Amino acid sequence: MSVRIVEIDEQHKGWLELVNYLYHSMRDGRSQEALALALKEMVDYSNNHFATEERLMKKYHYPHLELHRNEHESFRAKVRGYVENYNKENMVLAMDVVQFMSTWILNHIRTVDKGYSNYLIDKGIIRR
Ligand SMILES: [Fe+2]
Ligand SMILES: [Fe+2]
Repeated sequence: MSVRIVEIDEQHKGWLELVNYLYHSMRDGRSQEALALALKEMVDYSNNHFATEERLMKKYHYPHLELHRNEHESFRAKVRGYVENYNKENMVLAMDVVQFMSTWILNHIRTVDKGYSNYLIDKGIIRR
């Protein structure tokens, strides 16, 4: 799971903890309160995290920045959809959110984020 860049690994960890929080709240029957908080945090968290990655990729002229940015945008769009539905009091299932988040995040880290790992490390980013 590690991309061998401390700052990014820490952010990924925090992100997955957020998904875990929602999962546990759901299991304990507190998903409705947790959902509002988790969605808000998810928007903030992904904005911050994506900005960090995009800043690093840009700074070191990573050649696949655009593709990577598109992936981030697709996540943002999906989360925006959940938030809109939630705000309109449409049914949003915590289970769907947990499922989507965990699958997307794990997949993205293992494939898309891993893509910049070696490149950035070769450019002299501090590694673990
Ligand atoms: Fe990413
Ligand atoms: Fe990431």
